[in-house]
Amino acid sequence: MKILVTGGAGFIGSHLSERLLQDGHSVKVLDNFDNYYSPELKQENIRKCLENFNFELITGDVRNKETVQNAIEGVGAVVHEAAQAGVRASVEDPEKTVSVNIDGTLNVLVAAREARVKKIVFASSSSVYGKTKYLPYDEKHPTEPISPYGVTKLAGEHMCRVFSGLYGMEIPMLRYFTVYGPRVRPDLAINKFFRRAMKNEKIEIYGDGSKTRDFTYVGDIVEGTLLALEKGKTGPYNLGGGNRVSVKELAEKIIQITGSSSEVVYTENQAGDVIDTLSNASKAREELGWEPKMKIDEGLRNYYEWVKGRE
Ligand SMILES: NC(=O)c1ccc[n+]([C@@H]2O[C@H](COP(=O)([O-])OP(=O)(O)OC[C@H]3O[C@@H](n4cnc5c(N)ncnc54)[C@H](O)[C@@H]3O)[C@@H](O)[C@H]2O)c1
Repeated sequence: MKILVTGGAGFIGSHLSERLLQDGHSVKVLDNFDNYYSPELKQENIRKCLENFNFELITGDVRNKETVQNAIEGVGAVVHEAAQAGVRASVEDPEKTVSVNIDGTLNVLVAAREARVKKIVFASSSSVYGKTKYLPYDEKHPTEPISPYGVTKLAGEHMCRVFSGLYGMEIPMLRYFTVYGPRVRPDLAINKFFRRAMKNEKIEIYGDGSKTRDFTYVGDIVEGTLLALEKGKTGPYNLGGGNRVSVKELAEKIIQITGSSSEVVYTENQAGDVIDTLSNASKAREELGWEPKMKIDEGLRNYYEWVKGRE
């Protein structure tokens, strides 16, 4: 099948595109190489894909209707990964997050309806939950986002649900939980901590380090996304690896893996950050057969192997 991956030059999208090609699919990527982080890193992410005959790159913006209409032509399914990611970015520049994540998602849905594409996988986020009522989160947990980013992902989910109902599309919405692994976005804590640890520089933690995250390895996320493409029904699915680690523990693990002498220092809390995340992934297990495999220590060691040569 030919599959359109929006945001396919990014962290998750590039891993997914590589895997789709390996599995014998044709892949089109639509990505505008947004400069939120280095476009050169994104070029590097898709270097391998570009060598494949079954790969096509379209450099363009999901906010441009015509671009999306052209990109969707001839594909059997879409995985919509393109977004302005990042909670902090959305606090600093909510307009951009809203325009990319809401207008962009609407364009993808409208173009899919016009092209009669019936399967779309939407990259959502654990940020839709926001205020924690209980942990682990199941998909029935109330959604009360506390950042503009979370709001845009929740709006995207609602739009997907409505399009599914109106036009008979199947749109699984994947609530990814803190994804990490090779090529991780440079703005994420794991990348920052490793780079500092490798130079024996101070590691800065926002808050007192007690916030926890459910870290999920990118290979498991790719697996879950492929399963959703194959079997997912319209509705949300938590994709969280069940590796709940506090930010302080994360820094300690990274210091240990790198043999670093870095000191950990604590600074002010960041607005928009949730306190804890932990996923109940039973629905993805039962309906998709998803089984996250990577344990955090091994995943961090894999990341270290990758990042070592890229200082
Ligand atoms: N990484 C995580 O921990 C995480 C967690 C939850 C949800 N998500 C979601 O997963 C998806 C992928 O995230 P990622 O971490 O790989 O981020 P990323 O920033 O590495 O990838 C996003 C890609 O989208 C592209 N893009 C941005 N704006 C665009 C636009 N207007 N038009 C076309 N392309 C555009 C970027 O250039 C980038 O290559 C996003 O939707 C993100 O919100 C990620």
